[in-house]
Amino acid sequence: MTDAVAEALARLEAHRATFDGVHMRDLFKADKDRFARFSLKVDDLLIDYSKHRATRETFDLLADLARAADVEGLRARMFAGEPINFTEHRSVLHVALRNRSNRPIYSAGKDVMPEVNEVLARMRAFAEGVRSGAIAGATGKRITDVVNIGIGGSDLGPAMVTLALAPYRGDGPAVHYVSNVDGAHIHDTLATLDPETTLFLVASKTFTTLETMTNAGTARAWVVDKLGDAAVGSHFAALSTNLTKIAAFGIPEDRAFGFWDWVGGRYSVWSAIGLSVELAVGADNFEAFLAGGHAMDEHFRTAPLLENLPVIQGLLGVWYRNVWGFPTKAILPYDQHLSRFAAHLQQLDMESNGKRVTRDGTPAKTATGPVVWGEPGTNGQHAFYQLIHQGTDVIPADFLIAAEPHQLPHQHGYLVANCLAQTKALMEGRTLEEATAQLLAAGMAPDEAARLAPHKVFPGNRPTTTIAYAKLDPFTVGRLLALYEHTVFVEGAIWGINSFDQWGVELGKELALSLQPVIDGKADPATFDSSTAGLVAHLHANGSV
Ligand code: F6P
Repeated sequence: MTDAVAEALARLEAHRATFDGVHMRDLFKADKDRFARFSLKVDDLLIDYSKHRATRETFDLLADLARAADVEGLRARMFAGEPINFTEHRSVLHVALRNRSNRPIYSAGKDVMPEVNEVLARMRAFAEGVRSGAIAGATGKRITDVVNIGIGGSDLGPAMVTLALAPYRGDGPAVHYVSNVDGAHIHDTLATLDPETTLFLVASKTFTTLETMTNAGTARAWVVDKLGDAAVGSHFAALSTNLTKIAAFGIPEDRAFGFWDWVGGRYSVWSAIGLSVELAVGADNFEAFLAGGHAMDEHFRTAPLLENLPVIQGLLGVWYRNVWGFPTKAILPYDQHLSRFAAHLQQLDMESNGKRVTRDGTPAKTATGPVVWGEPGTNGQHAFYQLIHQGTDVIPADFLIAAEPHQLPHQHGYLVANCLAQTKALMEGRTLEEATAQLLAAGMAPDEAARLAPHKVFPGNRPTTTIAYAKLDPFTVGRLLALYEHTVFVEGAIWGINSFDQWGVELGKELALSLQPVIDGKADPATFDSSTAGLVAHLHANGSV
């Protein structure tokens, strides 16, 4: 951490003391214009960040922190294609994949846009061909089902977006996602499908990932068993940076959709990995999704710090994580189509910012990425909101809500009312006096009311951001996803970490490889620690492994 960042953080620490004894209720009472002052609107996308433990001075100090950490400098370096993922010597250019302006973007001195556009054009032709029936299975039957086989970013991103855009499917194929190496996942998926009408997408940046290659092998055998070897070319396509391995799998060149090492796995839905989305909703909708991402990129690239949605969100993230010490953050979409949004953001945020050393290799002196979690409202209200309201941890939360639903508009009012009620309750809470008065007014005896009231107190003062949009259309899904990507970028920049590598997933992978011979009974478990050896012995004794 540079001295300038440490000093800016110290000023924020001192500033936090000014909130002692201050409740958000007071902030709202003292300033009738608090919503106008602390909300930002870009077209129909509104971010209300008035329900936070923050004043104008807080944001000024946070902006100083962003400047001290040179967030704008790192942002410029990312858009310029500099290898800011320095542990892997790579540019970080998911923004190029959705660069609808088509202005040149360079990686290692080469404009990447011609290749990006070439793959996009091939994806469009393939997706539209499958959707129209012009590209059929080996026996000439129309493709009715697509199975995307991938894991991590090669699964979560496309699965989340496909679900988010379900109302845009039209007469396109049903798209399924298989990720887990647990055979139950592909087994149960294949059980519902017909090989003659099924297309598999093998989605893997590296084309070496154990889970994906194992499931792809199972799918291949299933197709070959029913339709013969020659059918593989008609029932598979591959999405990868590893074109050599695609050919070895038997997938023809014209069904290989490439991307580049400057696309991080958790950002790859914008690349050929998004082909399952394009098959699900069509090329125009997929490109509208890209356009939404691009619109957010342009906003992030050009808006001043305190008028910049991802910057505001990132600064609030740092404020709560580092200055208040809150360990988790909840993502609560009041939008059933965003059911997988939190799961995707979990990878985006925790794989990016779950780092313990800073860019110079020394241990981080501040906390870094929080635990990210969530489920859609209103379901969560009946599950874990109890802890958000009355638990001993404070959990900053993002609420997302559309002004207009896709279906059954008469139910939407209930959804909106619940969303707004929750953020109001979290902000205001309920005092002991209010709880007592309510019980007495309901006719309870004073003794009993005094006994019960403490249980009915809500501390309130719990921070939330509300993100509201007109409708969850492809453009908006693109904007929302890019908003969170850049938020994670801003936080990582302030923490001084490399948000773009993921070495933390390696050790488990290496050990799984070394354990495989033991599990297969070909090596002695005694060379491992007693817990591992004992578990292996137990599983051997009780099953077929
Ligand atoms: O879990 C690590 C990771 O590399 C993720 O970053 C990535 O999204 C996932 O594995 C899948 O990797 P691949 O696309 O190469 O199969």
